Amino acid sequence: MKSNLAIKVNHVSKTYDNGVQALCDFNLEVKEGEVFTLLGENGAGKSTIIKILTTLMDKTSGNIEIFDCDIKRDVNSIRKQMACVFQYTSMDMFLSLEENMLLQSDLYHMPKDEAIKRMKMLVDMFDLNSYCNRPVQTFSGGVKRKLDIAMTLMSNPKILFLDEPTVGMDVHSRNALWDMVKKIKKDLGTTIFLTTHYLHEAESLSDTVCIMNKGKEVIQGSYEELKELLNTSVIEIKLNQANVSDIVNRLKQEFGNIEITIRDKKIMIKNQKERFHSLMKYLIKNNVDLYSIGFVEPSLEDIFIQVMQGGLKWKL
Ligand SMILES: Nc1ncnc2c1ncn2[C@@H]1O[C@H](COP(=O)(O)OP(=O)(O)OP(=O)(O)O)[C@@H](O)[C@H]1O
Ligand SMILES: [Mg+2]
Repeated sequence: MKSNLAIKVNHVSKTYDNGVQALCDFNLEVKEGEVFTLLGENGAGKSTIIKILTTLMDKTSGNIEIFDCDIKRDVNSIRKQMACVFQYTSMDMFLSLEENMLLQSDLYHMPKDEAIKRMKMLVDMFDLNSYCNRPVQTFSGGVKRKLDIAMTLMSNPKILFLDEPTVGMDVHSRNALWDMVKKIKKDLGTTIFLTTHYLHEAESLSDTVCIMNKGKEVIQGSYEELKELLNTSVIEIKLNQANVSDIVNRLKQEFGNIEITIRDKKIMIKNQKERFHSLMKYLIKNNVDLYSIGFVEPSLEDIFIQVMQGGLKWKL
């Protein structure tokens, strides 16, 4: 039966010729049409799995299905359905964007009129008209990356792999690239598999996040699901006054053995959801100059740090 999965990685291991085991019984699932982000520290194995998924390299063991087809058995048809943008560009720097795009369509044996139609569609879609006719080498790194992705989309891939697409980019270029990714998903319905080190962007962009460590997946799910896994509630109190530690001592006296931390002059109280109202009443009754009180949620960065430390409880 056909699944709604674009990628299924089952117990995949990879040992390089020099003996380094980059992947160790690695598993993941990517749904069709989603933005899937793989997170992990340097050397975790992110590029290794991308190279295996894009058929540039063989796994040592395990199996992989792309749209329910075995990656080894159906390699030729699978290759036609995917495209990859690596850190280094694959464009010819002396040619213009248009020339690069048409060259790309030749590689895929696309009829000329169809290629021109698709090129115009992509150029309009990403607002690239002003970049069409000048040599690619005359553009900044951020723009080149955008052009590289646009060129890659000429082959109309069903899955687009982006290995650290925003590395080394300034904030403006990064935002422009994330907008491009959102548009590719929304307007073209392409499944996008990416790796990044920018956690707050992964948070807003991804449907599913997988955190991996030392060649193995640790957790996978939507940001909402990962927050629930952390299973910690935190009340945050901001004061207008400076004597934060004095207030903390008074709260400890009043409420007994509760876990309180001070973070950036804010009072953070863990796992005391049911005491929210009594805490608020106490602060008001005692004329504490309160700026705000509320629940805070862990960021993806909090989750990432926790996972890397081997736990799934939010430590503040
Ligand atoms: N061609 C290779 N030969 C031998 N070892 C390799 C090779 N490529 C990668 N490795 C090793 O495999 C492990 C995983 O590397 P990989 O490049 O997949 O990590 P990564 O998560 O992409 O890291 P980064 O965030 O730095 O890009 C590392 O220990 C790396 O040194
Ligand atoms: Mg890498």
